[in-house]
Amino acid sequence: MAFNRFNNDIAEDVLKHADIVRVVGTYLNLTKQGKNYKAICPFHDDTSPSLTISPEKQMFKCFACGTGGKAIYFVQKIEHISYNEAIKKVADISDYHPQGIEQFAKPKQVDEKKEELIKCLHDLNLYYQFALNTPDGKEGIDYFDSRNLDSSIRSKYKLGFAPKDGKATIDFLKKKGYSVKTIEDTGIAKMLSVGNYRDMNEGRVTFPICDIDGNVIGFSARRLKDDDTAKYMNTPETYLFHKTNNLYNIHIAKDAAKLKGFIYVCEGFMDVYALGKIGIDAAVATMGTALTSEHIQILKGLNVEIRLCLDGDLPGQKAMMKIARDLNRAGVSFRVVDNQGSSKDPDEILNQDGEEALKEYLNRLVGHTDFALNYYLRSNPLKTSEEKKMLLKEFLPILLRINSQIELDSYLRKLEKITGFDVESIRELVKKAKANDYNVSNPASYREVFQNFHPEREALQKLVTAERELLYQMGQNKAAVSFYEQKIGGFYDDIYRQIANFMVEYAETHDDMDINGVIVLVESSDLENRDELLNDLTSLLIETHPNKCDEKLLNNLLDTIDGEKKRITDEDILESSLEGKSELEKARIISEFRKRKMAKR
Ligand code: CTP
Ligand code: MN
Repeated sequence: MAFNRFNNDIAEDVLKHADIVRVVGTYLNLTKQGKNYKAICPFHDDTSPSLTISPEKQMFKCFACGTGGKAIYFVQKIEHISYNEAIKKVADISDYHPQGIEQFAKPKQVDEKKEELIKCLHDLNLYYQFALNTPDGKEGIDYFDSRNLDSSIRSKYKLGFAPKDGKATIDFLKKKGYSVKTIEDTGIAKMLSVGNYRDMNEGRVTFPICDIDGNVIGFSARRLKDDDTAKYMNTPETYLFHKTNNLYNIHIAKDAAKLKGFIYVCEGFMDVYALGKIGIDAAVATMGTALTSEHIQILKGLNVEIRLCLDGDLPGQKAMMKIARDLNRAGVSFRVVDNQGSSKDPDEILNQDGEEALKEYLNRLVGHTDFALNYYLRSNPLKTSEEKKMLLKEFLPILLRINSQIELDSYLRKLEKITGFDVESIRELVKKAKANDYNVSNPASYREVFQNFHPEREALQKLVTAERELLYQMGQNKAAVSFYEQKIGGFYDDIYRQIANFMVEYAETHDDMDINGVIVLVESSDLENRDELLNDLTSLLIETHPNKCDEKLLNNLLDTIDGEKKRITDEDILESSLEGKSELEKARIISEFRKRKMAKR
């Protein structure tokens, strides 16, 4: 259909009655920002929301990749359809149907080729099902039995057996009246020589793959024994069958999903059967491929919660992270079955651990953020301060996408627990990231956001300040000295610890404390770092600390010291104290650090 003046009028009319926010919002997750809305741009590999939607101008524009335009153009781009089809879609979304709009609907023409192929595959599947119950199919039955697929499962999913004589199968189809061309086009025939075909599935058990209406459009056929042939033979890409936009069992799952409000997305056939056996028909399988954008559109159309149930090994989880990002981007609501690092698939769980175990497993659902967090923690080290910062670095984009304040708070607290970084300093980081349009893959943006982020140095500061105050009180007060001996046992700071030892020694032989006396004790020692100790001690002599030395103060100091100590490891301190220092200073700090570490042994 050519684009003429008349079409143009309708397009304008539809645009006038459409709201860009509603149109884009049916495809993407939007967040309000001032007058506009923002979303992750679907037209490039976007990580921070770069797409702006302006209700005022009725336009969308991505400031990263440049894509922009009106509502119809958006739908055309995202759906990969013609402009005319997009006019109709926008009209549907807007519930506005001007006269003449119907001409833009995709024509529903009878596709004779498709119907012939579907008929042929239907007959072929009946043949396979029949063959399963002949003597030839006995080993197929035995195989299904060994996988606990009984006759009710076999008939529910129309499982069968492709006879070993693959030539006879082709002859059967010919006798049914199908042309060689049709048989070729189903994808099941392999050509040995010109005009000489065999069934590519011969000698295997068969799993028919159906479209959403339940028509068989292809097969997967499993070998019966472990040998060096492919575990599953799949119909190649044909006119009917496209592995990337088919979900196994979608024809059964779609109704169950609408009834239950969710759908499980698994990896293999066996998983779908396992779920089916425990009463969950709302399950599909990706058949080992990645979840494609076509899959996502089909699932989105069901308008139910997606429950991802994919392999627990690390590559599987890595794949899941990508899928989670894609689903998030598409504005689909989903949760993830948290396999907690176990690599058993649902079929194995059911067979090895039983029905209850599988039910429990399938109910272990976590949101995207929790899944990402658990995944990160399982696959990355988290000891040094730098490693903890890496976690925040990876996590900021996810935190930025959380709209609810309550949810954000709960994650900030989780991250505080995990990293030991103060919750407020992480909150500051999120604010700064938001203000700076943080982009995880841009090192400059990372440096910008993380400069001045030194939560561990703060912790150290608090610790050392508390220790110093206690040390000061010990110089005045014997009660403080015995409190130190009983409750603290040793300062974190090496110099302070050594000074404290002298104070303890002094207290043992004197009725009252006197810093001058402690100084004499140190002066008369032959310690290597005597000058350093004296330096600090003479400072203590002239310092004044306003707090009264009572039990409350001592207990407060104890709490601070214990709390902060837990947060820090030696490595953290070393790192934080190196940041921003000259090479010469760094060398001095490192050697000092080593010395102190040796002294502790
Ligand atoms: N798959 C495939 N070809 C292969 C291996 C796998 O097409 N050579 C697809 C199948 O659809 C399979 C899915 O990927 O169901 C998941 O693969 P996998 O986990 O290896 O198989 P299972 O479903 O566990 O099958 P089985 O238990 O029979 O080994
Ligand atoms: Mn398996």
